[in-house]
Amino acid sequence: MTEDDEPDVQLESRLEEQAEFTPPASFVEQANVSDESVYEEFEENWPDEWERAANLLEWEQEWNQVLDDSNEPFYQWFVDGKLNASANCVDRHLDERADEAAIEWIGELGETRTYTYEELHREVNEFAAALRELGVGEDDIVTMYLPMIPELPIAMLACARIGAPHSVVFGGFSADALAERMNAANSDVLVTCDGYYRRGDALDHLSKARNGVSNVESEVTTIVADRLGDDAPTAISDDEYVFSEQVEANSGAVVDPVVRDAEDMLFMMYTSGTTGKPKGVKHTTGGYLSYAAWTSHAVLDVKPDDTYWCAADIGWITGHSYIVYGPLALGTTSVMYEGTPDYPDKGRFWEIVEEYGVNQLYTAPTAIRAFMKWGTEYPEAHDLSSLRLLGTVGEPINPRAWKWYYKHIGNEECPIVDTWWQTETGGMMITTLPGIKKMKPGSAGPPLPGISADIVDPSGDPVGAGRAGHLVVNKPWPGMLRTLYKNDERFLNEYWDEYSIPERDQWVYFPEDGAKVDDDGYITVLGRVDDVINVSGHRIGTMEVESAIVGVEGVAEAAVVGGNHEMKGEAIYGYVITEDGQDETEEFRAEIVAAVEEDIGPFARPEAVIFTPELPKTRSGKIMRRLLEDIANGDELGNTSTLRNPDVVHDIESKVQGD
Ligand code: PRX
Repeated sequence: MTEDDEPDVQLESRLEEQAEFTPPASFVEQANVSDESVYEEFEENWPDEWERAANLLEWEQEWNQVLDDSNEPFYQWFVDGKLNASANCVDRHLDERADEAAIEWIGELGETRTYTYEELHREVNEFAAALRELGVGEDDIVTMYLPMIPELPIAMLACARIGAPHSVVFGGFSADALAERMNAANSDVLVTCDGYYRRGDALDHLSKARNGVSNVESEVTTIVADRLGDDAPTAISDDEYVFSEQVEANSGAVVDPVVRDAEDMLFMMYTSGTTGKPKGVKHTTGGYLSYAAWTSHAVLDVKPDDTYWCAADIGWITGHSYIVYGPLALGTTSVMYEGTPDYPDKGRFWEIVEEYGVNQLYTAPTAIRAFMKWGTEYPEAHDLSSLRLLGTVGEPINPRAWKWYYKHIGNEECPIVDTWWQTETGGMMITTLPGIKKMKPGSAGPPLPGISADIVDPSGDPVGAGRAGHLVVNKPWPGMLRTLYKNDERFLNEYWDEYSIPERDQWVYFPEDGAKVDDDGYITVLGRVDDVINVSGHRIGTMEVESAIVGVEGVAEAAVVGGNHEMKGEAIYGYVITEDGQDETEEFRAEIVAAVEEDIGPFARPEAVIFTPELPKTRSGKIMRRLLEDIANGDELGNTSTLRNPDVVHDIESKVQGD
């Protein structure tokens, strides 16, 4: 047999050429949604067809109106409907699924904890009672600053139970970032933990949390989960409450779920935007939960008997919608993994899939690119036949990684859903319905039923197939953000001003992404068009990084851009002008990097810090970021003739190449 005849090589070359994939028949047969007419039904019966989503939930009181658009773009969904999210995610499954696992938690050290729906119900009630006792009332915002431990979803659901919106701050954020978010939300209750394990080491989290709290304007009540026991580098102090003690003290407590209006806030979540200040995205109880449940049902094909795994962090929106709210609303088993994919070895994910019989795996392209680099031997060593569907989220997936995922993880038997959405959209917006649509690697797919999206030019006209433009969403949807917390003006400004024509009653949502569409209506999302960098699927504002850098003594000016990165999608490049007399040393560079870690968090660490005597600026004094991006990417430089200081570009270029 020649090399070319080997089955694997043949397969690889066939896959390489193949641009379209049909969903496997075995999947289609059992899919939650497999009738193509769903697209038409939403179109013809819009917005009422959205009742399909709401009907996946249990309501205390039915809505009187599906959509109220009398005050655009402050839309309201399922008007007058009343419900409780915690009751929907926990209580209503007790009749049939009390003994089934709601959460399968897998710790970094290999320890495991299973919460059946009954156990989850008990802990959520007990912690809800504890929160009440500590003075948390309806509409008080509770901040959570926790890694992937079960106390996080328990605390979220306890908050939902008493009608206290939560604001989860990703555990990787710095103390400063925590304080900024607590102050912005006027939140004076914090749930955190002593620490957690990373690659076997016990990391201190409590000191970070305390540093944050010391910069919060109001008096903070802190509840600390004891994750590390004797390994904890910092002991819980007397003026902090211990999570487990609070639960114990309320043993057996039953807290009636507070009846919430559909439009009442379920949670807020901060995300990065163009300016330095993070945006507090407000999500509601009825619309958001309906949308998370519907997309989990239709796109992720979640069924109650499944074991479903979304390998994101609950500190980001993906974890909110697709580890906690969507899957638990549907009564399934949601896997929650604390650790990293390569600890204790690179087969960790596949070991979990095999051991738990995972049916759906939802992860980020960055992770898939890492798996690809590590090689097929790791997945091959495990039985992955339980998998039925694969998903990706957070950044564009390159066709090579898509095909690797399809073949080596899905064994060509699992459809892949490449899901485009954002913190603001609450749930998936553009992706194939896996039981209906063919897949095209690299393209997320058409908008979901009921979602109307287009690619437009600067005047708002559709650009047509094949041309790049701005992605816009033309109709409201239940999971949409309602506003930015206490900042309606910024909400209008950031998302609606660009393409809406209020005089004509045309309201167009602008997600600040660039995209193109093909003849089949499949959308390929190209990336952010604002000053936001997407590092491994995490949104980081260039302004946030710049303000951290210019805060360092000795820095005169800084410009931060995203450059392409093989593994992370994008990486952060910081161009820095030092003040006179400041030496451009390695130590100074390290100081700058440390400042970014301190202000934002280690995940925002710049890939490179480049010292430069000047930044390329237009005659009006605007920094030409595009050129800095080209330099970071080693690309041919665009037009430099509009620069006030064209020579500087080549100086910077040679510096980058030298670094
Ligand atoms: O640029 C898009 C990119 O991630 C941004 C949203 O980031 P965030 O609010 O943190 O939410 C991430 C998880 C939903 C978008 O504006 N993005 C997200 N999904 C995709 C994507 N880009 C391309 N393809 C995707 N599937």
